[in-house]
Amino acid sequence: MDLGARLEELRESGLHRRLRLVESPQGPEVQLDGRAVLLLCSNDYLGLADHSHVRRAAADAAMSWGTGAGASRLVSGSMTIHAELERALAEFEGKPAALLFGSGYLANSGVVSALAGRGEVVFSDELNHASIIDGCRLSRAETFVYRHADTEHLEWGLRRAGERAALIVTDGVFSMDGNVAPLAEIAELSGRHGCRLMVDEAHATGALGPGGRGSVAEAGLEQHVDVVMGTLGKALGSYGAYVCGSERLKEYLVNTCRPLIFSTAPPPPAVAAARRALEFLVARPNRVERLAANAEALREALRAEGLRVGDSRTQIVPVIVGEAAEATALSEAALERGVFAQAIRPPTVPPGTSRLRLTAMATHRVKDLRRAARELGGAARELGIAGGRVEEMQAGSAATGPLERAA
Ligand SMILES: Cc1ncc(COP(=O)(O)O)c(C=O)c1O
Repeated sequence: MDLGARLEELRESGLHRRLRLVESPQGPEVQLDGRAVLLLCSNDYLGLADHSHVRRAAADAAMSWGTGAGASRLVSGSMTIHAELERALAEFEGKPAALLFGSGYLANSGVVSALAGRGEVVFSDELNHASIIDGCRLSRAETFVYRHADTEHLEWGLRRAGERAALIVTDGVFSMDGNVAPLAEIAELSGRHGCRLMVDEAHATGALGPGGRGSVAEAGLEQHVDVVMGTLGKALGSYGAYVCGSERLKEYLVNTCRPLIFSTAPPPPAVAAARRALEFLVARPNRVERLAANAEALREALRAEGLRVGDSRTQIVPVIVGEAAEATALSEAALERGVFAQAIRPPTVPPGTSRLRLTAMATHRVKDLRRAARELGGAARELGIAGGRVEEMQAGSAATGPLERAA
């Protein structure tokens, strides 16, 4: 592969990416390239990554447990702090068992590929996270990519697949749109068709449902969802991920799930930080309410500026722009005005739906969120950006199989 040519191609199509240097902890404001800017693109939704109790727990764990787990959970890396966090997470999710993973990417790619195989069919929402898409690819099962949140399309696929239907997998809260999956209908279909259901709560844990227990708990479906996956690196302010389900599921994954078997266990400071963050969340659910109120204030202020906000009711607030180059220009102009709001472009989102993906944090001040909206509105007007083609958000999918092509 000609790397230079490929990079040039990315530049020309407005899809080139670069790493920006943040010189401070995550927070409502960060130091970026030497100056303070409002941060509107972090998944540290509850502001726990820089909370003194959470930092202290990580520091204490580093002193008493060391900095690394040393090996895979199955070799020498499974420590009592891993088991304690798993117990706490299982209780939090209302499930018999939990299993820690190095990251959400590893959990999704590993669990999806462990739960479906050749000759079977996985059903995946077209806007699911890349880690789920990669899990589908790794599974070697046929993947039926159903239209976004379209339960009729899903049902059509389930009927066609019959006995081969192995797994339905969906984001609970969609990462780039902030909308919530129609979980009650999906759970009903999974029950009726005898097909396992997995929900990715990466953006729902700590943000949605009673006490931040996620979209599954909000819908009262704890008993109807077989596999709940959540991350420790977002609202819980640490790093890593977990999967909750039955004891048998856990035993099966310990024996078959490659990212668990062949990757080093999460480091003790990250585990201890997540444990402390979880305790904090359980003790102070009002932070979840503050997050929701901030998200609503941000949405209202953006709408007042005439910006095109998607139909999210969560802390993820997309400002749909349209073309990749326009989204990048708006992001750069916002940064000039002191607002860090990242442009999200294909392949992360379908072509024609590039956007600024704004995220509220519980620790933002409402007056700062309003200021951010004013700056974004001003920048969009200056650039003559009116809004994107939202209808195209339904287009495009990342994995297809014969069933999908037949649809
Ligand atoms: C919906 C969803 N699932 C999984 C992941 C992966 O989680 P992690 O960042 O822990 O690898 C992400 C991360 O952005 C996500 O948005």
